[in-house]
Amino acid sequence: MAELGVNIDHVATVRQARRTFEPDPIWAAALAELGGADGITIHLREDRRHIQERDFRLLRETVHVKLNLELACETQVLKIAGSVKPDQATLVPERREEVTTEGGLDVVTSRDRVQEAVKQLQGEGIAVSLFIDPDPQQIETAAELQVEAVELHTGQYALASGSQQKSALATLANAGQLSRGLDLTLHAGHGLTYQNVKSVSAIEGMHELNIGHSIVARALMVGMERAVREMKQLVE
Ligand code: PXP
Repeated sequence: MAELGVNIDHVATVRQARRTFEPDPIWAAALAELGGADGITIHLREDRRHIQERDFRLLRETVHVKLNLELACETQVLKIAGSVKPDQATLVPERREEVTTEGGLDVVTSRDRVQEAVKQLQGEGIAVSLFIDPDPQQIETAAELQVEAVELHTGQYALASGSQQKSALATLANAGQLSRGLDLTLHAGHGLTYQNVKSVSAIEGMHELNIGHSIVARALMVGMERAVREMKQLVE
């Protein structure tokens, strides 16, 4: 059975829309833990569009399950990671103009830079996962970089349907088998929903799934009715 890492970035996105104190991702993390999350995942982006350094530092103190920091191979955020020390760091690509992380980290072409980041993080006692496309060359390079885990990008699978989705799932399963054969712990994520998650969690050896958008979207929907009822009582 795979573990569930809950990505709470979108909670911070709503807060940043007003630059206020609510909703606080620290509260959301506590509630996610109550709901059974095995891990809390946050992405400290260079442009700080959602999660802030303050969130990361407080979450380090309050999260009692695995704290997974997504970050780019970028000097300043690597330094912050080294001082706050999440349980796990997942290296991701980052482009300013993207809406979310759009593709896997290309560890083949940016090998030297990734290697430096991996060494720095592991030197601080932080386990490292690489967010990569389910591609054999990427996986073999990840193994050579001696990281603890790879997170396979499930975006292609999530966007596909019918026979294309079946084939994307087979690609993920093959990539999973190759990863495990190379002693890499297997993670996956991106675009997973209540509808498409089961086949991915059933991939042999799947250890961790990181899911954000779909969970936060559902949290809004299942909470909306109660929130309106409470406000209605106050205005009546
Ligand atoms: N894994 C990684 C590496 C990500 O960058 C993201 C998005 O921040 C996720 C998982 C979660 O993706 P989603 O929000 O689509 O569930």
